[in-house]
Amino acid sequence: MKSRISKKFQALFNAEGEFFASAGRINLIGEHTDYNGGFVFPGAVDKGMVAEMKPNNTDKVRAFAIDIDEYCEFGLNEEDAPVQSWARYIFGVCREIQKRGGVVTGFDTVFAGDVPLGAGMSSSAALESTFAYALNELFRLGIDKFELARIGQSTEHNYCGVKCGIMDQFASVFGKAGHLMRLDCRSMEFEYFPFDPEQHGYKVVLLNSCVKHELVGSPYNDRRASCERVAAVLGQEFLRGATMDQLDAVKDQISEEDYMRARYVIGEERRVLDVCEALGKGDYETVGARMYETHWGMSKDYEVSCEELDFLATIAQECGVTGSRIMGGGFGGCTINLVKTELYDGFIAKAKAAFAEKYGHEPVVIPVVISDGARRI
Ligand code: GLA
Repeated sequence: MKSRISKKFQALFNAEGEFFASAGRINLIGEHTDYNGGFVFPGAVDKGMVAEMKPNNTDKVRAFAIDIDEYCEFGLNEEDAPVQSWARYIFGVCREIQKRGGVVTGFDTVFAGDVPLGAGMSSSAALESTFAYALNELFRLGIDKFELARIGQSTEHNYCGVKCGIMDQFASVFGKAGHLMRLDCRSMEFEYFPFDPEQHGYKVVLLNSCVKHELVGSPYNDRRASCERVAAVLGQEFLRGATMDQLDAVKDQISEEDYMRARYVIGEERRVLDVCEALGKGDYETVGARMYETHWGMSKDYEVSCEELDFLATIAQECGVTGSRIMGGGFGGCTINLVKTELYDGFIAKAKAAFAEKYGHEPVVIPVVISDGARRI
């Protein structure tokens, strides 16, 4: 990837820049909890974005996206927003840095990535984090890592139309090889957990249904709005900390749909804590059981699954897979599966064959390698 990027950079700009990278993420458990002030449990993966960059002493950004073979040039004032969605991520990061008082001037960049798009692995956070991290270094801005993650999140909110939480950008910036991170999205305290399932006889693998998940302009924002309405009725800033008894007590003041959404979130908060505790004891059976509960909660109560993902989770269950669930925002993308090593080959073969028979193509198998987040390379 690096050599393809530098060839193009040389050809376009007749120069050499510096290289930066960031990562996509998995999330073991804790879905749609981040914007509710709850816990998440992600890790960065070995798939991400790489960008070569060099300030160009102008007031323009000149950017080339290798993967879609597209060039774009834009200024750095609010009215200069580009139309291409990939360029809006870069523009948004620049603008959010400027809003925080950082001085960003023009630069040249060529970038490429290997996070499958629309798989629920946060290719957009990888893009934002790469540029936030790189601009911070190149222009010596001295922004701390939490703020870099928030810059990515604000980019989604203000330039891409997704009212996302902080999980993806946090994971992409803070990721550490061999570790998951439990983040408390209310206090922003976090802890690294060593994660080595193979040592315990398990593998973690993603199965990409290849149903494109699209959060922009999607029901994602509606889910968030439901949670905020219920929190308001409960007199809380976030759903975090609410109990089922409290929810039941206001049942007749909220819609049935909002009730279901909140029921899922309250359950999910407990499940993340259970999983962290179980992992600490090497109790992978409990981890897996909670993953299935999350899947069906996301499917039935939160309604962010789809037929293909329910099918994959069902096959996993039939094959004796320890845990399986939809990962990320939903509406398509991957399942994350925790599989005993001895069942792995059989499960993959069965999932591929059964899925292909029903949907006409195999799911894409993506082995999980927990890796470092944003960095200079
Ligand atoms: C998307 C959002 C995250 C988070 C997940 C669901 O990935 O970007 O902030 O809400 O969905 O857990």
